[in-house]
Amino acid sequence: MKAQFGVIGLATMGQNLALNMAQHGFSVAGYNRSAERTQALMARVKDEPILPTFALPEFVSALARPRAILLMVQAGRPVDEVPSELFPLLEPGDLLIDGGNSHFADTERRIREAESRGLLYLGVGISGGEAGALEGPALMAGGHAADYARIEPIFEAIAARGLDGPCTGYFGPGGSGHYVKMVHNGIEYAIMQTIAECYDLLKRGLGFTPSEIAAVFAEWNQKELESYLLEITVDILRTKDSETGGFLVEAIKDAAEQKGTGKWSTQAALDLGAPTPTLAEAVFARIVSALKEERVRAEKVLPGPAPNPPLPVQETLENLRKAYALAVITAYAQGFRQLRDASTEHGYGFSLAEVARVWTAGCIIRARMLQDMREAFRREPDLPLLVLAEPFREFWVKGQESLRDVVCLAHRTGIPVPAFSSALNFLDAYRTGRLPANLTQAQRDYFGAHTYERLDRPGKFHTRWEEAPRC
Ligand code: 6PG
Repeated sequence: MKAQFGVIGLATMGQNLALNMAQHGFSVAGYNRSAERTQALMARVKDEPILPTFALPEFVSALARPRAILLMVQAGRPVDEVPSELFPLLEPGDLLIDGGNSHFADTERRIREAESRGLLYLGVGISGGEAGALEGPALMAGGHAADYARIEPIFEAIAARGLDGPCTGYFGPGGSGHYVKMVHNGIEYAIMQTIAECYDLLKRGLGFTPSEIAAVFAEWNQKELESYLLEITVDILRTKDSETGGFLVEAIKDAAEQKGTGKWSTQAALDLGAPTPTLAEAVFARIVSALKEERVRAEKVLPGPAPNPPLPVQETLENLRKAYALAVITAYAQGFRQLRDASTEHGYGFSLAEVARVWTAGCIIRARMLQDMREAFRREPDLPLLVLAEPFREFWVKGQESLRDVVCLAHRTGIPVPAFSSALNFLDAYRTGRLPANLTQAQRDYFGAHTYERLDRPGKFHTRWEEAPRC
């Protein structure tokens, strides 16, 4: 009997996906360049139908034709290198699926390369980390619809169960799946940054211990703000450092790393002209955090504000909860806006309601609010910005004063809140009918004759500013 599915790359994600498939009754052949990982997978196998292979030709001939092969290798060069060894062994009609965090433009190039050899290629964003890969990830696929249809049954079997069925979706041609996953990560960065800002405000503003902060987050996580990222943060804040006996979080160096998807999301937003400042600020916050030694030096020469009187605890907590809700909604709103613009620009043609549905379970940014987001996009598929729709508009109406208070408090006490303040700036700009960009246009025309438009009649105008009469 030949295996129904192949997995190349058996690090933890690849192993867990292979096990997940096999536990759902699909026979899987596994291959990894170094045999230790294949053996590590086999050590975890009980009676699941998993066939270990130790050379690419052996792997290829173990698969039923036409073959379906999931590549779970490190994003970047390996996603080009492995197929270049694999292609000569494959036959027309065989399907390669890149399940890593590849850049959507690379996926588009790889689809063309595969097609020129008569092979099929899908780019699939997989979210949920190691646990998700085993227990049910969210899957975001792009490429030809017919190729997705071929593997849909297996994806439906292994995906997380959302409210409305399995969290797997087809998002259109080319690199659409990887695009959706990239923006997912952009939102992921912004939510993580917002939670980090809450932690900092509670710690330095109110003097709370990590376990007191965990209690606040646990309470938020009971109701409408429930989310996976908040849930894991509660666990993190309560975790003991086995070396010191103190809180582990306080022993961790405050320099965040990144693999690049958040940065790509912002780069792509800039290319599109999509307004995602809060997502961008989260990337910059990681960059600033990485300047640890510089920051420690600067702390000694750049004083902060004079000490503030103690803050009223209950009022601050209430403001922070409302501000957190608004900043998180803003992160999703900007991400969905980017996806809306990208879908048009790149001709993906996916629905935002479907994106929200796939994100309701399995993925890192899963949250109770996604159900309402899905409904909002169902009601109005071309909704320009989530905050225009209920119940999100209501969050703004009821929470804007709190967001303002939190941003003021942070600025007054010298605690950096790039996510909170960019969310507020963005929402204030978005709801302002008349911005000062008229002056910017005048300046551009003054020094560069770039012309401007007028409010009172159509056309492009230029003024010889130096010679023009003054009021
Ligand atoms: C997921 C995660 C996952 C991973 C990213 C982020 O959806 O399962 O987004 O893909 O955690 O690579 O990593 P960085 O924070 O290193 O960019």
